[in-house]
Parts: sequence; C-alpha cells; structure tokens
Amino acid sequence: MNKKNPQVPDENATGLRKGLTSYGDNGFSLFLRKAFIKGAGYTDTALDRPVIGIANTGSAYNPCHGNAEQLIEAVKRGIMLAGGLPMDFPTISIHESFSFPTSMYLRNLMSMDTEEMIRAAPMDAVVLIGGCDKTVPAQLMGAASAGIPAIQLITGSMLTGSHRSVRVGACTDCRRYWGKYRAEEIDDEEIADVNNQLVASVGTCSVMGTASTMACIAEALGMTIPGGATPPAVTADRMRIAELTGAQAVKMAQTGLTIDKVLTAEAIENALRVLLAIGGSTNGIVHLTAIAGRMGINIDLKALDRMGKETPVLLDLKPSGQHYMEDFHKAGGMATLLRELKPLLHLHAMTVTGRTLGEEIEAAGPGFAQDVVRTAAHPIYPQGGIAVLEGNLAPGGAVIKQSSADAGLMEHEGQAVVFENAADMADRIDRDDLDVNADDILVLKNIGPKGAPGMPEAGYIPIPRKLAVQGVKDIVRISDGRMSGTAFGTIVLHVTPESAIGGPLAYVQNGDRIRLSVRQREIALLVSDEEMARRRQAAPVVPPVAERGYKKLFLDTVTQADQGVDFDFLRAPSMKQSVPK
Ligand code: FES
Ligand code: MG
Repeated sequence: MNKKNPQVPDENATGLRKGLTSYGDNGFSLFLRKAFIKGAGYTDTALDRPVIGIANTGSAYNPCHGNAEQLIEAVKRGIMLAGGLPMDFPTISIHESFSFPTSMYLRNLMSMDTEEMIRAAPMDAVVLIGGCDKTVPAQLMGAASAGIPAIQLITGSMLTGSHRSVRVGACTDCRRYWGKYRAEEIDDEEIADVNNQLVASVGTCSVMGTASTMACIAEALGMTIPGGATPPAVTADRMRIAELTGAQAVKMAQTGLTIDKVLTAEAIENALRVLLAIGGSTNGIVHLTAIAGRMGINIDLKALDRMGKETPVLLDLKPSGQHYMEDFHKAGGMATLLRELKPLLHLHAMTVTGRTLGEEIEAAGPGFAQDVVRTAAHPIYPQGGIAVLEGNLAPGGAVIKQSSADAGLMEHEGQAVVFENAADMADRIDRDDLDVNADDILVLKNIGPKGAPGMPEAGYIPIPRKLAVQGVKDIVRISDGRMSGTAFGTIVLHVTPESAIGGPLAYVQNGDRIRLSVRQREIALLVSDEEMARRRQAAPVVPPVAERGYKKLFLDTVTQADQGVDFDFLRAPSMKQSVPK
C-alpha cells in the first residue's frame, strides 16, 4: 500500500485494490469501489483480505450444473474459513442438449467470457465451477490465458436410474435404448418409461463421456483438489470438495500459485496418459489441445498414438466397460487409477495444493480391493482407447476410439455411401431406397469446425433403419465431426482438414473404395491423385463465410481439430514445446 495515501494501491495490490478501474485517479477509483461494495452491505474489513472469484455457471438451461447454488455456498464457506472474501460472478453456461447449433460452437465464447471476467474484476484467485462437457475446457482455456491462481471445481456426475430393474444412466443408455426403439425392439410406452430414468438427478452424464473425461483430466492436470473428479453432484463428498476448493483458493492467492506453475508440459502429458487409460472421450483430445495451446504447448498426434500403444485402458466404465461414475468414486476415484498408472506419470508435476502429483498419490494411501479400476496386468483393453489415423483421406490426422469399436470392422475395406451434410443424412438415412449394405462405409461431410459450424457431435451416424431392423449393430462411419464420448461404434472422427475448407473428404463420391486399418493406423481413399485433382477442379469447395457477429468471428478465426478448434488469436503466439515427448 502507498504510505502517503492509503487509498492508492501499489502494483502488488490484492483484495479490492487489485486492478483498479482507472478514472485517471486511483484514489477515486478505490473510493467508488468501496462505496459500491458497501452498498451491497459489506464493511471495511472485507477490503483487506484476498478476493476469490467464483465463476458461477448455474443456469436453468443447465441441469448438469443444477447443484451450483449449494456448491457456491460450500465454496464460500471454505473461502471465509480460510480468511478470504468470496465474490461469485456469472459467466456463460453451456449444456449439451440446450445449445444450438452445437455446444462446441460456444466453447470458445465461454472461454473468452471466463478470461475477460477474470481480468476485469478484482480477484486474487478464481474457483471455476464447471461440469457439462464444454464448460470445463472453456474455463481451463480462459483461466490459462488470464494467468492468475485458478482451481477447478467439478459439479459432479448424476446418479444412475433404474428401468425395469436394469440400471441406466445418460447417455450411453440413452443411445442404446433409442437404438432399440429405432429397431422396433421396444414400443412407445417403454421408451417413455426409459426417458424418466436416464437422468436420475442433477449432475453430469454418469458414464465416461466428455464431462467425466474432462473431470478426470482436470484432476490429472493437478487443477482440482485431490479426489475432486468423481464425487456425484448430490453427495456430501461433493460439498466437502467444494469447501476444500474454496479454502485452497485462498492459499493459492497467498502463495502466488499461478496457473502456469500447474499447467505445464508434464501436466498435459499426465492428462493425455489418463485420457487414454480411462477410455476417455475423443473430445478430450480436442479440448486438451486447446488448453495446451493457450500455454504454448503443442500436442503431437503421432506421439500421442505412440503413447497410446503403451497405455492400457484400466477403467471399467461405460461405454468401453460396464460401470458408472458413482462406482468409480466408491472404488477410490482418481487416486486408485493414478496409483496404478504411477510408473507412466510425471510425478513431479505441481498441483493446486502446492504439492506434487506424486505426493498426492502417496497421501491418498495404499488403496483397497475393488473391481472398477483394473491392474495394468489385467486391463480392459491392452492399448489406449484412442488411436490416431493418417492417410490420403486425412492428411492432418483423424481419430478412432478403438476401445468402443467393433473388433471385426477395424480392418475393413468398403464402398462409400456419402452424405453431403447433416441435413442430407437426416433426410435419407432411414429411407427404404437408401442403397446401403452392412459392409459399406458411411461418409458424412461438412460437420467439421467450419462446416456445421462448430464441429457438432454428428459423427455418430445412426445405423440406417433398414440395416438396424436386420440386426446390424455397427458399420464403419467417417466424418470430420466429433462424437459424444458416450457413443460407441467403429467411427472415424476429426478428419483433418475438414471438407468445408476443401479437405480430401469433400471430394469423396458414392461408390469410392475406402480402407480402414486401425492396425496400420491408416484411413485411405482408394482413388487416384489424378482423379482427385480432376474432381477438385470440376467443383472447387468454397469455404463458408458469415456477414456479422459471433458467427463471423468463428468462421474467420476457428482452427482445425489438430489445433483444438480454438480461435487462432486466442492461442499462445508461439508454441514453445511439443508433447507427448
Ligand atoms: Fe451435461 Fe452430459 S449433458 S454432461
Ligand atoms: Mg457429451
């Protein structure tokens, strides 16, 4: 504090003195700020302690964050017990089912909102409350760029429900039952019953979809309190994690534990390792690439594929396995998994507790017998859940979640059945005159970052009805889009470059032969270069544009999947490191 004038802050100011809005007179700025905070009923004592921002993403449109109010109360309790001043503030909230045209279209907007609110409002540390798929990546991206001490609080998973004595949970079972309904195995009445049971409480999807994936990744990154990934949304464990998170945020403010000390190359590598070992959502790669990109760290897909070959899937959760998030929590949560993965992790990576990941694994104790996390000797799947493909159809790479693909289709050559875009697919997929056989390959164009726009999760192309009623459960599908982490099938995603900017995918025609070889890590279009050049010249692709608004910003600046689908101007100006090594 300035000795002559206690109203004037120095550059190390904290609390409400931090980051004064300039009216050309710092003393007056603080005077005004105090007047308004007193207008809210606070006394002067509130000014002389760390201010901890709490990003409140509660929204009636977001049932996955339906416990936000209770979480905020617990976080505030933790902050005040530790001597800080809690200040919650709203940001955009994104829910998967309520975000048109797709939640991914809004992720970068939420990251900008988060970053700029952290920059704008006086706060010495920030608690990020996120859960639903895009929220945690958006918050970590924004906080990474803002640079202050930040800690992630996950909202937690929903409870599982029960349909006619069968345990169900969103959203792998949503798809399974919808598939049965489409195949006319269950009737209108039963599908309505299922609908009541799939989401049994507030909280995020209960399987290893993107929300659970990002929760586990956040803990693996060291960005949560240990044990912060798995407690279900409505439990006392979740509320205690919230209280601890608030208290830890105050310590982080006091010790200056900024986010760059946690989000290091080692931490990103640990997170990639965990992504593979949990059979995590393919979306996790895109989000981690975006988060790492904010820190100037590039994710090398080829190296990731090598890492996958030596990382078994250990977590027995749907859709790769059989359990749900609440079971993982009862089995000890991430500590159980991290203990098993220890030989493959960077144990010196710093976490938000001020202790290293290795120290936290030790502190969690020896573990106990359980059947949700397998040992490395008896994995669910011998290799990582995700394989990276390359070939003339995807010069910039593509991915497949091999752990939830049909083993019989992973080496497959077939004839392309092409859909030009999502509307065309919706229009024709169920028609009786669709010319398709079970050994064909469905190709969907124009659902990449710029194509849809927003790279929607339309990559999970449904089995055409005429095949579904014949009992066909899987078919090779290829697109430049994403798929929900709760989906399953032999599905090639994130084909880069996308068709909307003229990637080879744009020029695939009905009847072309395509070869998928997961063993060779290859996705090949068996059409000559000359023929491709001819097609390119005959009907060149014109990339989409928009006249104004967020859509213009999006189409002008969004990057491809291999750069995390972040806006180019939000990524770090240069990439200093590449992971995994
Ligand atoms: Fe929010 Fe699944 S819809 S986590
Ligand atoms: Mg999802």
